[in-house]
Amino acid sequence: MSSTKRPPAILGPKPNRKACGVDVMDAIYGRRAVRAYDDWKLDVRTIEQLIDAAIHAPSARNEQPWSFAVVQDKALLRRLSERSKALWRERVLPGTPTDEPRAWFESPAHDVFHGASTLIVICARPSAWPANEDCCLAAQNLMLAAHGLGLATCPIGLVRAALNEPEFRRELGLPDDHAAVFAVVVGYPREAPEPPPRRPACILSWR
Ligand SMILES: Cc1cc2nc3c(=O)[nH]c(=O)nc-3n(C[C@H](O)[C@H](O)[C@H](O)COP(=O)(O)O)c2cc1C
Repeated sequence: MSSTKRPPAILGPKPNRKACGVDVMDAIYGRRAVRAYDDWKLDVRTIEQLIDAAIHAPSARNEQPWSFAVVQDKALLRRLSERSKALWRERVLPGTPTDEPRAWFESPAHDVFHGASTLIVICARPSAWPANEDCCLAAQNLMLAAHGLGLATCPIGLVRAALNEPEFRRELGLPDDHAAVFAVVVGYPREAPEPPPRRPACILSWR
């Protein structure tokens, strides 16, 4: 992690795990990918609380291969957003069957972070076991905990390639052997989207 922007380590009192008393099933069914945020910056304590929830996810052999980078610097968020759009214009759009998302990626106004002022990047450090699954489970914990605190989140897969470029790796303080795996924006919601439809579960066998 960058030495200058890092919030203090989680050493304070235990987070208030019953802050809002949201039932786990309510959280699972109520969490949404939110794409409009207020500009307010999340405070250090709340971010620590979310990261603490993340690190309580299960991990293979309990290796806990995750580490975290928090980005709240507006200029850096803007550069990450621009670079993500550029990478998608170069690498992905030419091969996509539809031009529908092109307007997004070509518009200087489009912010891949949807106006959120905090991005939390879950990184995998070297592990004897595949670490990506663990990081994704940590991300889900973080998103459900945020929902429980009345905050909104959105996974931002679009930014992953940019995060792993040397320039941004340096800025985020990622050691050479770490990889950015899962990025999530967190913030105060400005919308309450309806749940997108789910296909019925496809149960291939039950023997
Ligand atoms: C790995 C992953 C990457 C995603 N990347 C993005 C993204 O870059 N931008 C975005 O707006 N939503 C992104 N999403 C959010 C999904 O579009 C969203 O979860 C899905 O439409 C279902 O909506 P729900 O989360 O509200 O249930 C991503 C989700 C996942 C799991």
